[in-house]
Order: sequence, then C-alpha cells, then structure tokens
Amino acid sequence: MRKINKYVLLLLISGAFLFSSFQNEREINVKNNDMDQFVEALMSKMTLKDKVGEMTQLAIDVLSVGAPYNLKEPHEFDKKKLENVLVENRVGSILNVGGHAYSKEYWEEIHSTIQDYAKNKKDSGIPILYGIDAIHGTNYTLEATLFPQQLGQASTWNLELAETCGEVTAYETRASGIPWSFSPVLDIGRDARWPRLWETYGEDVFLASEMGKRFIFGMEGNDVSDKTKVASCMKHFLGYSVTLRGKDRGPAWIPDRQLQEYFIPTFKAAIDQGAKTIMICSGELNGIPVHADKRILTDLLRKDLGFNGLAVTDWEDIGYLVSRHRVAKDFKEAIGISINAGIDMAMVPMDVSFVKLLMELVEEGVVSMDRIDEAVKRILTLKKELGLFDEPFHSYKEFPDFASEKHRKAALQTAEESIILAKNENNMLPLHRKKKVLVVGPSSNSLNVLNGGWTGTWQGDNEKYNTPGKATILQAIENKIGKANVTYQKDWKTANTTDADVIIACIGEQPYTEKPGDIDDLDLEAAQVKMVNALAKTGKPVVLVVVEGRPRIIREIVDKVAAILVAFLPGNEGGEAFANVLFGDVNPSAKFPITYPKFSNDLLTYDHKGTDLVRRDFTMNGFDPQFEFGFGLSYTTFTYKNLNVTAIEKDRIKATVDVTNSGARKGKEVVQLYVTDEVASITPSVKRLRAFDKIELDPGETKQVTFTIHKKNLSFVGQDNKWVFEPGDFTFQIDGLKEKISL
Ligand code: BGC
Repeated sequence: MRKINKYVLLLLISGAFLFSSFQNEREINVKNNDMDQFVEALMSKMTLKDKVGEMTQLAIDVLSVGAPYNLKEPHEFDKKKLENVLVENRVGSILNVGGHAYSKEYWEEIHSTIQDYAKNKKDSGIPILYGIDAIHGTNYTLEATLFPQQLGQASTWNLELAETCGEVTAYETRASGIPWSFSPVLDIGRDARWPRLWETYGEDVFLASEMGKRFIFGMEGNDVSDKTKVASCMKHFLGYSVTLRGKDRGPAWIPDRQLQEYFIPTFKAAIDQGAKTIMICSGELNGIPVHADKRILTDLLRKDLGFNGLAVTDWEDIGYLVSRHRVAKDFKEAIGISINAGIDMAMVPMDVSFVKLLMELVEEGVVSMDRIDEAVKRILTLKKELGLFDEPFHSYKEFPDFASEKHRKAALQTAEESIILAKNENNMLPLHRKKKVLVVGPSSNSLNVLNGGWTGTWQGDNEKYNTPGKATILQAIENKIGKANVTYQKDWKTANTTDADVIIACIGEQPYTEKPGDIDDLDLEAAQVKMVNALAKTGKPVVLVVVEGRPRIIREIVDKVAAILVAFLPGNEGGEAFANVLFGDVNPSAKFPITYPKFSNDLLTYDHKGTDLVRRDFTMNGFDPQFEFGFGLSYTTFTYKNLNVTAIEKDRIKATVDVTNSGARKGKEVVQLYVTDEVASITPSVKRLRAFDKIELDPGETKQVTFTIHKKNLSFVGQDNKWVFEPGDFTFQIDGLKEKISL
C-alpha cells in the first residue's frame, strides 16, 4: 500500500513538473519499485533451502567430471553433479574455469547446460549468476583482447583508457556468457613486495580512485542489463595489500587513521560510482579475519559507506576461518560468524555442505531469517538488474566485436601508454631502424611474461593458452626492422656481441599471482644482474627492457645501461608496443604509479612523512628512490611556466599553468598537481597528488591547464579520527613550480 501511494504521488508530481532531472529520478524510483516488487514476490515463494542455495557459490569443478583442481580434459559436465548441485541444493552462483581458459564457443555450451538445469529442473527457475576473474580483459576466454594489468593501466595516467579497458572487458565477458567480473582491485599498492602489487592501480589514493571509478563506469555503464555490460566487483575489502611481511594473505596491522586516509577512499569512490558488488579480503586486519569482522562488513561497509550491493567472500575464506585463522572450531561455526558479520554469498567453493549447515544455523536461531532475506534480496536484485531473468546469457554470435581490430587497437594504445621511459642517456632512444640489434634475456621471447598471472590460467604460465599470432618483444622487433637486423640469443653467455650496434636486454619477472608469487628478496634475480653487467662490459650500448609485476631492485645495473624502459605487465600487445616505443613510432608518455625503490630495505611511498627525510648524516635527503612516483621521460621535452593559484568562490582553489612542448616531437604529458599542507595537527605528508591531466602537444605548442579543487580535498583524518580541513598555508606544486597560498 505504501508503495502504491508513493508511486501515485510520484505520478502526480511528475505531471506538474516536467523537468527532465525530475523525470529521471521518477524513472529510477519506478524502476526500483518494480525491482523491489519483483524480488519480493519471488522471495515470498522461496523456501529456506532455495534462499540458502542462492547464497552459495561453487567452482565449476564441482559440476564436472574429475576431482576438484584435477578435472578430466577436455572438460565435461557430470550430470549427477549438475542435478545435485543446481537442482537438489539450488546453488545460485558458479565461478571460474576448470584449470584454464575456454573458447567462446565452449563457454556457450557451459552456460546453456547450467542455465538449462536452473530454469527447467529447479523449482524456482532462478537463473545462475556466473562470475569470473576478467581482470585485464576477458583472460579466461581464448583469444580475447588482453590489456595491460592494472598497474600498467595506472602507468598510463589516462582515465579514458581505463574506461575503455572496462568497456571492452565487459563486452567480451558478456560475449563469453558471463555477467559478473571480479574486478577491479581497489587495494592500494603501497608495499612493493606484495605479489599482487601489479593487480592494483599503484600507491596513490587519488590516482587509484580515479582509475577505479572510470574502469567501473566502463564495465557497468548506466545500465547493467545492457548485454554489453557486466557487474564489477570491488576487491578485496579491506586492508589486503599491506601485510607485515609483504607476503600474500598475511596479517595486516593498519591503524584506523591510515585505513581512512589510504585504504577506504578507493572503495568509497567506487561505491559512490555505483559499483554493484564487493569481495572481502582474505587476510586478517588488526587481529580479526575480515570475513569475521562485523564492524567492517556491516558497520563500516553498510552504515558508513552506504553500500547496498552484494558482498561475496574470497576463495574458501569461510573455511579458512577454521583451518588458517583459527577463530572458529568448525565450518558450521565459521559460516555463522561470517554470515552474521555481513557476508551475502559464500565462494565456498568446492563442496555443497554450506547449504545444509546454513539451513541448520537458521533453524537453530544462530542466523536470523532477516539476515538471510537481506542477503538473498541483494543477490536476486543483482540477477534482475543484469537481465538474467529475461535472458540468462547471450550467444557469442551477438558480439561481432569480440577480439576485433577495434578492441586490439585499444589494448595496443594502452600498452604503448603504459611503457615508462626511465632513462635515456644522450637520447639513446629511439633507435634507428637500420641498427643491428642483439636481443637477449628471459623476458625477450615470452607472451606469458608480458601478460603475467590471470592469463589463460591462474598463474599465467602455460603457453598452451596464449593467443596465436601475438608478438613477443623479440618477434615485434623482428617485424619492425626485419629479421636480418636482429640476432637473438636465449643464453646470453653464448651471445656474439661483435656485430651488434646495440644490445636490448629484456629482464624482469616470470608470471605469478597470489601466494605462489611471494618472495623473500626484492632484488632482481642475481643471474639477470650478472647478465646485464657482462653485457655492459662489452662496451656496446645496452637498452634495458624491464617487464615485471613489482619493482625488483636494479640499482647495480642502472648506471651501466644507456636507456631503460619499464612496463608493469603490458599484456598481449606489449611486444608490439615495446617495438613501437623502441623505434620511435610512439613517443612514451607513461609515469610511475609507484615509487621505484633503490634498496630493498628502503621501501617508501612518495607521500611519506617529514621524519622519513632525515638521513644518517642528518641532512634532509633521506628519500632516495630509484625512480620517483609520477616520473617518466619522453622523446620530447615539456616546459612549465606561469603557475597561478587563487582561492575562488565556494571553497574552491583554481590552479593554472602553461605547459609547452619545447622539443621536436609531438608528445603527451601528464600534468600533476601536488599540494603540501605546511602545518597540520597530524604530521602532514611531504606532498599529496591532488589533480592530474594528460594532454597532448605538438612541438612548440603551449596549452594552459586548469585544475579546480575543493578545500575539502585538502582535508585529512584528524586527531579524533574524523576528516578535517585545517586552515593555514598550502604549497601548490606543478613540475618544478611552487606557489604558497593561505586558506
Ligand atoms: C583471489 C580473488 C579472486 C578469487 C576467484 C582468489 O584466490 O584472491 O582475487 O577473485 O580467487 O578466483
């Protein structure tokens, strides 16, 4: 009745005022009302088992012939298991692949089988919500378009590219029949040792928040029922990325002030952007596993941040409350703890016992029916929003742009703009095409190295699932300057350097993610350091090409090479992108999204505190990274002039600066505005990034760049742990120019 009145009232008012903004609001309200009514009507017919089944997410392994993690090849469904899981136990969500990527044609077979069981054999007929890690493109579908990984995307500082990456990934994921991607990672990348650093947008809160918002918009658009859009999944809430030892899933101890200042804002920005789902952090934060922490999953996430979408666990994390964290004596107790803490869906993922145990917990009064209904309502609302009740999946045939040239070009541009020129002594680069080059090193002839983890397989290390026809760095160089000009030596020890004009040494890391990527030493592998030292001794100029997921220490070799290019996993088009940069078809424009450390015991972010500056000789030169956050060279030069900072109306500050391309080539520049709070009641960072813009300039061209920022963006988390703006002096800095203003 209440709803009908509201609806009538809305109709009456909208008849009177035909303002378009109001019309929009009305449409949203009506849509929400219809949605609520649909979901409530459906829920009124569901049994407890139906509901608990909806809250269960299992891996495809559980439906397949073979044992979990060890399925029959090629993949085959097991009818008995399908019947048991989907019909008997009413499981509502499936995830992942059985070990490796499938073709889009096989994905279609998978969905038609699964959705057929859901629709025709299960009483409720509720469609299955399939979820996948499509984290740098649709990396579990063979031949899909693959972009740079997130840290590479962040190196572009190009928000349009982040949006395009979201858009293309959504398109190709839907083309694979899947409406939900576990992406983006919004953990902040502030520890260089962490094996998932490359899955983040880097160390800065502002850059990561902006990239995340645009990526999510690209994925979800304004309407996720559109068959080219998918639901995104912000992950991993909260405090996953900074563990004491820098290892995956270790304990994190993060004080409240830091959580608010550095770890929550990326999620808050994404929630405000409308992100549909969230995945919870596998680790423990301040002594409590996040999956068991009601203060984080309900008080913070729901009440403070206002998130109303679906919260899913990470892989097996309810089980780990027993086996790893030891806060529950058995699986049943763990389920009670995490569902009561605020989990809506459990990525169980390998057996069906969750359904029975959660039903028992409800019957015993440990978990309330309200909590179940709240969770199920969120799940069904998402299924409805995704249009699954109308069309549980679409055929790949409806997606002519899957792996199209248009998509490839977007991935190539992103890869090109992600390659950082970190050193270029005497304009060594770009190289002339007539040069004879010797290519060596472990990164030179591998697509897997360019793509990293989550490519074809979880660890991204099986060549069998690579896209045919994609060029490694070596192949792309050969394509560019002709095989006759290129010598390749896999083993550098036998390399003949006499005929080469220049040596391109490709170093870095082999693919990895999560636990298997843990390291005990951030230094670059000794054998690779040895190789570069030996090559440098030949007297031939060495160009270092570094492909890695985190900044391995290269201090010993930096001074011995003429030029350095760094890319954080540029993806399938990375080989071609490197060749384009090396030979000058593309002018590099990327900037470091992290601080590149010089020593493995001196890991510090750019926005460190004043006391971090004090050196052992008591000078203030204590911050001495290999490469600074925001740094990156170009084949042209940019000159900055006329920084002008003024306070304008409505608590805003306007900063303008003139940027000139003072070199001889067209180029893109990332204009970065940093602000220093001169005096504050909580020790201020030396500076914080507050705005940026990427512009393109012809030789000789000047553009005025304007940033307008609100005073509240200069606030910090104060002594009482609340955000506060403290009046005083602020220094605005763009490139080498500084201007102080009193606010
Ligand atoms: C990872 C998540 C991922 C999930 C599903 C977990 O191990 O931590 O990032 O989304 O697996 O594959």
